[in-house]
Amino acid sequence: MIALIAMPGNEPLADALAAELGCERLAAEVHRFPDGESKVRLMQEAAGGDVGIVCTLDRPDDKFIALFLMAHAAREAGAHRVGLIAPYLPYMRQDHRFRTGETISAQHVATWISSQLDWLITVDPHLHRIAQLSQIYTIAHRVVRAAPELARWIQAHIDRPLLIGPDQESEQWVGEVAALASAPHVLLTKTRLADRQVRLTLPSLDRWREHTPVLVDDIISTGHTMIEALRQLSDQAMRPAVCVAIHAIFAQTAYTDLQNAGAHRIVTTNTIAHRSNDIRLDALMAQSLRALLA
Ligand code: R5P
Repeated sequence: MIALIAMPGNEPLADALAAELGCERLAAEVHRFPDGESKVRLMQEAAGGDVGIVCTLDRPDDKFIALFLMAHAAREAGAHRVGLIAPYLPYMRQDHRFRTGETISAQHVATWISSQLDWLITVDPHLHRIAQLSQIYTIAHRVVRAAPELARWIQAHIDRPLLIGPDQESEQWVGEVAALASAPHVLLTKTRLADRQVRLTLPSLDRWREHTPVLVDDIISTGHTMIEALRQLSDQAMRPAVCVAIHAIFAQTAYTDLQNAGAHRIVTTNTIAHRSNDIRLDALMAQSLRALLA
């Protein structure tokens, strides 16, 4: 038996998951006081079973305290176990101490979440220098892979796609999507110089001139990785490119910046609600949740 709670902004996803699972969404609210502190209220009993809090964790620093309080409210309302459905898992890119004095945030955030919740469902966490989520998360978890749905979308909408991964670590997503979509793929080499500055090396794409370039990445944050790739594709006089990403963070003006940079189309999944969401992962998330609870 499971019931869901939606943190603010997650109601559509929680309702879609509740419909997939045939379960209830408990009435809950989060109030933000003028001083910036949060108060949560769960208006129903949790009746002894599992409660899953649906809370995608883009812009996480604004969400952590209310999530932590809601987990307590669920336990106090009778939940036996309280889990987190966080389609976007934050802090995973801070997986290395690049300079003395820095800390490996991915590790500490994972330790903290593991101490507050009993299980976790997420979608394609950014695994790079940390190879497996189990290296840092000590609670039961399931990782949903978006690749089958990305491949399905590309096959249905793109004429002769050439999939392009903007950096070496994108091979894990691009390679799988390309195989499922029966499409060729190439990888670029990326050096990040600053938050909004990347250098990409693109091989000659002459032999793919009749293909439609499809940039595939796990995250669009500032958009600069994709913007730089679009610039290089245009230098090579390739067809207008489509940008496909799993997690639509789109920091500040990233979405319009990417449109202005010439993206023919921008498509994301619904792990973070955004107007570019055209690929739904509700069914895959519900399937993972069922497997975890079983
Ligand atoms: C990092 O390696 C990720 O896979 C993405 O390439 C990166 O997060 C994109 O960030 P931005 O949109 O800021 O270039």
